[in-house]
Order: sequence, then structure tokens, then C-alpha cells
Amino acid sequence: LKVKILAMIGSFRENSHNKRIFHYYQEMAKGQAELIDGGYEDFPHYDDDVRASGPPEAVLRLAEQIRSADAVMFFSPEYNYSVPGPLKNAIDWMSKLPDQPFAGKPAAIISASPGRFGGAKMQYHLRQIGVFVDLHFMNKPEIMISEVHKKLDAEGNLIDAPTQEFLRKHLEAFLKFIQRLEG
Ligand SMILES: Cc1cc2nc3c(=O)[nH]c(=O)nc-3n(C[C@H](O)[C@H](O)[C@H](O)COP(=O)(O)O)c2cc1C
Repeated sequence: LKVKILAMIGSFRENSHNKRIFHYYQEMAKGQAELIDGGYEDFPHYDDDVRASGPPEAVLRLAEQIRSADAVMFFSPEYNYSVPGPLKNAIDWMSKLPDQPFAGKPAAIISASPGRFGGAKMQYHLRQIGVFVDLHFMNKPEIMISEVHKKLDAEGNLIDAPTQEFLRKHLEAFLKFIQRLEG
């Protein structure tokens, strides 16, 4: 049976580098895993009064997508050394639902940045959040794609062979990791 991975992308913009990396990974994984884009663009800012009177439809929809997935993946930039606000907001929404959707799920992070460190610091903040929501992050291999703009062509295709190879190895390791946690 094919593995289902729910992906959360940390950037909404059309030409997002992280979106490009997600699309590459999604194509690469075909046949082994189905990557679903768990959108959250329309989430309101977290408000506990709104939560108490019934979370928005979009929030419940993503929660259901996460629950029915075998694993979760994050493709995200780093904002000011941390997790982008909208992504953190989406995680906050999930964290307050009954039958908390992230609980016990295998998870992995890929970050990309035009800078030299590839969004590494965001990854460790996301892992810290994962402790509380009980995501089981795979430790290795870590993928932080630096100078990502040089690794995509004008159409946004990933053309850097070493990065392609890193991603292939990552998928291989993550599928094993998911199997181990499920078994
Ligand atoms: C508010 C903001 C904060 C940023 N902070 C960082 C940062 O801390 N580290 C980093 O490597 N890049 C930082 N950047 C640059 C992003 O990595 C860059 O804009 C990247 O292209 C965003 O990802 P995307 O292409 O997927 O939209 C920041 C960008 C924005 C808009």
C-alpha cells in the first residue's frame, strides 16, 4: 500500500522556492508515496474564543487530512531565525483540537533559503514545537538547502544534482522511518 504524506508548506507566494522543492519531492516520490499539499492559507489567526465556539471549516479539513495520513512533512523557509508565523499559527490550531491530529505521527522537515544556512535554525524551533504536539521527527538525514535560487532553473525546476541525490536519500530514509514507527 502506498504511503500517504501530508505536507505543510511554509510559504504562500507563487514563486516560493520551498514550494518548488515540495513539487520536486512530490514528483520524485510518485509510486512510493503520495504527497498531499495540506493548505492553510485561509486559516484565521488563532483565537481561543473562536476555537471554543467551533473551529473554522478549513481548520477541521486540515486536521482530517493529517489524521488520515501516515506521516507529516514540512517544506518551509526560515523567518527571522524561526518558523514562519502562518505555519506556526496552523500548528497552534491543530494543537487545540480533540484527537490532536499530529499525535504520534512520523515527521520530517526540509527547509530552503537563498542564504548560506538553508533555514537550519527554523528546523530546530520546529522540532521543539514537535515535542509538545508529539510529532516524531526523523533526526537524519537533515536537509537544509542553502543558496536555493542557484539550484533552480528559470522555470523553478530543481537542477542541482547533489541536492537531487540528498532528497532521494531523504525519501528512502523517511519511508523506512515511517515503516518502523508504524510496525
Ligand atoms: C520576514 C522574513 C524573514 C526572513 N528571515 C530569514 C531568516 O531568518 N533566515 C533565512 O535564511 N532567510 C530569511 N528570509 C529570506 C527567505 O529565506 C527568503 O525570502 C525565501 O525565499 C523565502 O522562502 P520562499 O522562497 O519559499 O518563499 C526571510 C524572509 C522574510 C520575508
